Amino acid sequence: MNKVAFFDTKPYDKLYFDELKNEYGIEIEYFESKLSPRTAVMAKGAKAVVAFVNDDLGKETISVLKEIGVEIIALRCAGYNNVDLNAAREVIPVVRVPEYSPHAVAEHALALLLTLVRKTHKAYIRTRDFNFSLNGFVGFDLHGKTLGVIGTGKIGMAFIEICRGIGMNVIAYDPYPSQGYLEYVSLEELFARSDVISLHCPLTSSTYHIINSFSLKMMKDKVFILNTSRGALIDTEALIEGIKSGKVGGAGLDVYEEESEFFYEDLSESILKDDTLSRLIMMPNVLVTSHQAFLTHEALRRIAEITLGNLKAYFDGEKLENEIVAKRKVLRSE
Ligand code: NAI
Repeated sequence: MNKVAFFDTKPYDKLYFDELKNEYGIEIEYFESKLSPRTAVMAKGAKAVVAFVNDDLGKETISVLKEIGVEIIALRCAGYNNVDLNAAREVIPVVRVPEYSPHAVAEHALALLLTLVRKTHKAYIRTRDFNFSLNGFVGFDLHGKTLGVIGTGKIGMAFIEICRGIGMNVIAYDPYPSQGYLEYVSLEELFARSDVISLHCPLTSSTYHIINSFSLKMMKDKVFILNTSRGALIDTEALIEGIKSGKVGGAGLDVYEEESEFFYEDLSESILKDDTLSRLIMMPNVLVTSHQAFLTHEALRRIAEITLGNLKAYFDGEKLENEIVAKRKVLRSE
């Protein structure tokens, strides 16, 4: 059996990979540690590593992996901004799971939006305390409001379909517009017209801090911002200023630019060392979830199937359908 080293393992990962691994002829050694230049050596003896969103796949890690004989990196996620593609190019193949359940992420974006708009997170706490007052709970109808979607790929389109279902008017920005009826506008126009802005583009050199103090100035007062994509799409300090000034009416964040040290860990017994994250969490109109938009049974099963399928294809010498190919030298990891 081909051995693979699995990093940043959580119990729910094991459940789905263990169910399928024999079918694919793969032996898995699970590590709870995140992959980094320091931990990479733990993969010695494995032909592949399986990594996730907050694993460090920078130049140094890739060099250690290559040195100890790892032949392939299999990401069990869609985004690959944590991989130094320049360092990997012609050194080690990198495969990913381009699509598992766009619905899982889109439905989570809706959960964030509805919760913020109707304040159900606060109502839950209030009624548990037998406090049935409605003071402070006035929300607004999403029906008839304008949703601006940045990035109309698989997840962006799934979110658009949902929001059209509740009667929102949709506008979008994407440098590669998709076919079919959708009103594409410039980024500036999207900022100016949207009541709700949802980010569904990848993190690249051109999308880094796409929400910043300059773009916030262009937006409507009390705009709602959703980010289920990657944390560094938003300049967090600028967002906090926007919330404090009332420019931003609410923010639903499943991702955070400095999340890798905190998300997926139980830190309830410690003092959070990140003041920016603390401030965000304390704000009454901010909802932070810890990169959980993908976390459904359906998505986890597909992730396991596709990751194991990618590895089997490599071990069988077949074409790697889901290889990330850097056709040119990239400025940042895209
Ligand atoms: P996709 O590749 O299907 O769509 C991305 C879209 O963004 C494409 O249409 C592309 O043309 C567009 N795009 C590229 N550059 C852009 C730019 N500068 N401005 C605006 N749009 C741009 O990807 P998919 O599957 O829809 O995923 C989107 C993102 O969601 C991923 O990159 C990943 O970061 C994030 N994600 C988050 C998850 C979570 O659990 N929170 C789970 C899965 C993905």
